[in-house]
Amino acid sequence: TDIEKGTYPHFMLKEIDEQPFVIRKIIQEYQNENDEIKLDPEIRQAMKDCDRIYIIAAGTSYHAGLLGKQFIEKLANIPVEVHVASEFSYNMPLLSEKPLFVYISQSGETADSRSVLVQTKELGHPALTVTNVPGSTLSREADYTMHLHAGPEIAVASTKAYTAQMAVLAILAVDTARAKGIELDFDPMQELAIVATAMEALTDQKEKLEDLASEYLSTTRNCFFIGRGIDYYVGLEGSLKLKEISYIQAEGFAGGELKHGTIALIEDGTPVIALATQENVNYSIRGNVQEVEARGANSMIISMEGLNKDGDAFVIPQVHDLMTPLVSVIPLQLVSYYAALHRDCDVDKPRNLAKSVTVE
Ligand code: AGP
Repeated sequence: TDIEKGTYPHFMLKEIDEQPFVIRKIIQEYQNENDEIKLDPEIRQAMKDCDRIYIIAAGTSYHAGLLGKQFIEKLANIPVEVHVASEFSYNMPLLSEKPLFVYISQSGETADSRSVLVQTKELGHPALTVTNVPGSTLSREADYTMHLHAGPEIAVASTKAYTAQMAVLAILAVDTARAKGIELDFDPMQELAIVATAMEALTDQKEKLEDLASEYLSTTRNCFFIGRGIDYYVGLEGSLKLKEISYIQAEGFAGGELKHGTIALIEDGTPVIALATQENVNYSIRGNVQEVEARGANSMIISMEGLNKDGDAFVIPQVHDLMTPLVSVIPLQLVSYYAALHRDCDVDKPRNLAKSVTVE
């Protein structure tokens, strides 16, 4: 490829570090001279016209979709369903009267998503693709495209595309809210600028995250991620990152769900990474940490400034509640990266995986 790693040992590390720039690029690309959101008016209309949004995606893009649902429901007041592409085609839910399909795909080439697109186009439903590759199959075959502007993502493990997807979905949600006349005290560009600065503060703390990776993950066979609310979704992404590049068996769970079975797996020394970035669940997620610690878990709490407590392993800077995933995922990406390095794994090209999955 023409893309160079420069001084970086791996594309993944380079792409993690690029995230603040990508967020700033998105702010630029989605704003006009009057500081208004710049968006294809047809997309705005399609968002206004639909009565329900169906997000279709796979892997990390699916995880971004789970957060996209939060943005769209909370800000624009439109119900959203998020579906794994490979399940949707033969397990189609009952559709609303006026559905809008949103395909989230870094590559725009994921076969599972494409087969759903073909199916929903046949049914006559409008489709918007959110992708890093305009001109890709999913972009060409959908009615509308929103570009992630993340620059080429080479590492198999997706990092900057994930945060770009969430940023673009937040902007889309706010644009829709404004078009519908909903009053918000949430300026997405301002919040994203704060996110970019926070991201920089985190990519500057690699040594600390490398230490955490060696302390918690250098020899373990498994690892759990827990969180509540949107922290749960970020935990799903953290666990996917860890398993795909370090081959540690990792699972993300909703904090409250642990006691319904999974807690049986906690043994002496099992690492449990808990996210605590949401005020409304701070107390309860910390309760879950105590439960696993009482069974011997080696817990690592990643909290947000203002909600942190003594003994937390890592604290992220304060950002808007809804924006925490864009920031809290960075220590998870870096911890996975260093865990994979310590375990001598091929970080950029993990075994059995391809960058885009073009077979169903
Ligand atoms: C992420 O780290 C993965 N390698 C993978 O889950 C990926 O997100 C998935 O295959 C979807 O790809 P897409 O975004 O290009 O459609």
